[in-house]
Amino acid sequence: SYNLHNRSLLSLDELSARDLDYLLGMAHELKRAKAAGTEQPQLRGKNIALLFEKASTRTRCAFEVAAFDQGANVSFIGPGDSQLGEKESVKDTARVLGRLYDAIEYRGFAQAIVKELAEYAGVPVYNGLTNEFHPTQILADFMTMQEHCSRPLSEMRLAYLGDARYNMGDTLLQGAALMGMDLRIGAPPALWPSHALIQSAQNKARDTGARLNFCESAIEAVRGADFVYTDVWVSMGEPDAVWDERIALLRPYQVNAALMKATGNPAVKFMHCLPALHDRSTRKGGEICRKHDMDGLEVTDEVFESPASVVWDQAENRLHTIKALLVATLA
Ligand code: CP
Ligand code: NVA
Repeated sequence: SYNLHNRSLLSLDELSARDLDYLLGMAHELKRAKAAGTEQPQLRGKNIALLFEKASTRTRCAFEVAAFDQGANVSFIGPGDSQLGEKESVKDTARVLGRLYDAIEYRGFAQAIVKELAEYAGVPVYNGLTNEFHPTQILADFMTMQEHCSRPLSEMRLAYLGDARYNMGDTLLQGAALMGMDLRIGAPPALWPSHALIQSAQNKARDTGARLNFCESAIEAVRGADFVYTDVWVSMGEPDAVWDERIALLRPYQVNAALMKATGNPAVKFMHCLPALHDRSTRKGGEICRKHDMDGLEVTDEVFESPASVVWDQAENRLHTIKALLVATLA
């Protein structure tokens, strides 16, 4: 189907706006078909390797259920389960898995690793999150935005607050540039995307009409937003020791009721890729909240649990968008 057959998804950089529109359209269709009980399995006999060097709930389960719904089989290879990185190189692992499987999902550390896997595997490789990028998350986020706003993506305004020089901020920037959106990043300059990434996004924006803005003021960033998005302040793979300095930098960017109000938009929606530290109910979240006398970190429980929150739609849409990716590249 179309031109995505046999292709990898390593970052949004490899997709055209048309590719992304195609995947989103297919995801909406697959969601409707599943709800109606009319889904047609198109991946019978396909085998997919799910290689994880970091923990996951949503990405792993979305790939598994998407594969099962479509009649494909998966092998989950968790952190520490394989020889990768210890006794076997990335390129040898890639060549072995490429002989056994029809496609490989990889979650881990450097973007260079997922690139090397794709270079040697000979089958499509999907980035299920690296330090730099999380492209399958953005597919679900854009699908969710389409469900909650009737305007095209190019007419939506998205504010992203918090740590903007890691996978989520970086990939939202690429996605917004590609789709011609209005994106406002509110963060301390030390946590803005890299100069190179901003440069390439601005170049793309010249073609697509995207408006990309970076500001230090959280209030300014959210003004007029249709969606306010945030992510954890310390990501997987970063040392716990950075929490103190991160909180010192990011406290003014916490998404709370006052900030949601500052959008001036009563219909504004709250987004988060999850997992979120919005209260003290987790071991780590509780420990950090107590230490810094906070009741939630990147978002308050009040906003997270409010009617404006679309986080469960985002989580569910991981399934439908990943399924679209599998069908488009493998069927
Ligand atoms: N949003 C996301 O990627 O969640 P997991 O880490 O649970 O896969
Ligand atoms: N920035 C987060 C995203 C989790 C889905 C992390 O890398 O841990």
